[in-house]
Amino acid sequence: MWGGRFDQPPSELFREANDSLPFDWQLVQCDITGSVAWAHALSRAGVLTHDEALLIERALGEIADEAAALGGPPIDSGAEDVHSWVEQRLIESLGPLGKKLHTGRSRNDQVATDLRLWCRTAIDARLTEIDALLAASLRFARTNSDAVMPGYTHLQRAQPVLVAHWAMAYTAMLERDRERLLDARRRVNRCPLGCAALAGTAYPIDRSRLASALGFDGPTPNSLDTVADRDFVVETLSALSLCAVHLSRLGEELLVFGSAEFGFFTFGDEVASGSSIMPQKKNPDAAELMRGKAGRIVGHLVSMLTTLKGLPLAYNKDLQEDKQPLFDAMQQLSLVLRLARAVFDATSVNAERCQQAAAESYTNATELADYLVGKGVPFRDAHHQVGRLVVDAIALDLPLESLSIDQFRAHAPAVRDDVYSALTLEASLARRDVEGGTAPARVSVAMDTLEQHLVIRGTV
Ligand code: ARG
Repeated sequence: MWGGRFDQPPSELFREANDSLPFDWQLVQCDITGSVAWAHALSRAGVLTHDEALLIERALGEIADEAAALGGPPIDSGAEDVHSWVEQRLIESLGPLGKKLHTGRSRNDQVATDLRLWCRTAIDARLTEIDALLAASLRFARTNSDAVMPGYTHLQRAQPVLVAHWAMAYTAMLERDRERLLDARRRVNRCPLGCAALAGTAYPIDRSRLASALGFDGPTPNSLDTVADRDFVVETLSALSLCAVHLSRLGEELLVFGSAEFGFFTFGDEVASGSSIMPQKKNPDAAELMRGKAGRIVGHLVSMLTTLKGLPLAYNKDLQEDKQPLFDAMQQLSLVLRLARAVFDATSVNAERCQQAAAESYTNATELADYLVGKGVPFRDAHHQVGRLVVDAIALDLPLESLSIDQFRAHAPAVRDDVYSALTLEASLARRDVEGGTAPARVSVAMDTLEQHLVIRGTV
């Protein structure tokens, strides 16, 4: 491919470091798609005849079938990377005509194009998986729509919330993850072809037409930037990383709530494993992997940023290090998105235990303060009076609602007989009747809204 300038072949060691075929094989179909479009662009530019472009298209179609049948990279082909393999096969198939395809093109704009095509398809697949997880989270929320659990701050019981409200917190994160991926996709979807090695192609290529032939929104604006730019990889990895971090937080909460100490959730056998020594163990490995994969995915983001840092324009071989992080992050996130769905489907809520925990630990103290505010007590005074009552109640080992009217009045003279009905879990939930709050009516609206979005997107 570039041997004219050389007297000696590359060493085995150098080839081991330099060859990317073992991993960039993933791009083979994208490379062929890009090459077909390039052949037609060359014919429109008068470099190839229309018939020549059609012959190249047909031969590339056969190479695409051959690649699909191979399954894995043909490492004994001697090709340095996927681009050279496709070109080599084209020349074997068409002879001199095959040698014309690379006119006005460089592997630099070619690889950037391939990776953008690959990334676009992969983003679309992740969007579908996020929607499927949203649907599973919604199912979980609806199945457990009456259950109440303690909400936490500082991992201390704070106020009661609906279990459905908790699940919908994660759907809010996943909706943002979706938006971030869609936003990244807009900048992924620009066409590098025509930038050639770094300065732009010397042939009259209609880059806009070529871009739309490949489904891109348009060509990239600057040739030097284009062949050096992997921002789209960074942005995609960033969106994947944040999604992975969300799934990691979900995994952690599932683990905690599924422990004997909490006892809120029980996992199905299908997402758990046993111990080789302790016969009683049922370990929540699926949720642990949801938590654990985030480290690896975030690592890929850092790896790409670090590769780009200080890299001079335009193309440098360092950029070949872009592929494995992106491929692996996509694959791993796909796995955890699908795993999280299975875990939601396999998790049952122990509603009684949740309700009991929600009612303990003075989680209705804010309710009592709000009740006093309703009787005209300024909030800061109410807060202080209830604080004193909680101290008394702890000493008596009683919940607030078991104090007598006289005991209440020792610190909070505004208390009347109606205090007891204000302190129930139901009253606490119903009062959080604000957009985004945990009042059952609001959670039900949130679930309906998500369902409508999923219906519009064709997920449910
Ligand atoms: N395998 C290379 C990569 O993945 C393709 C581009 C090679 N360009 C070059 N000038 N050697 O980045």
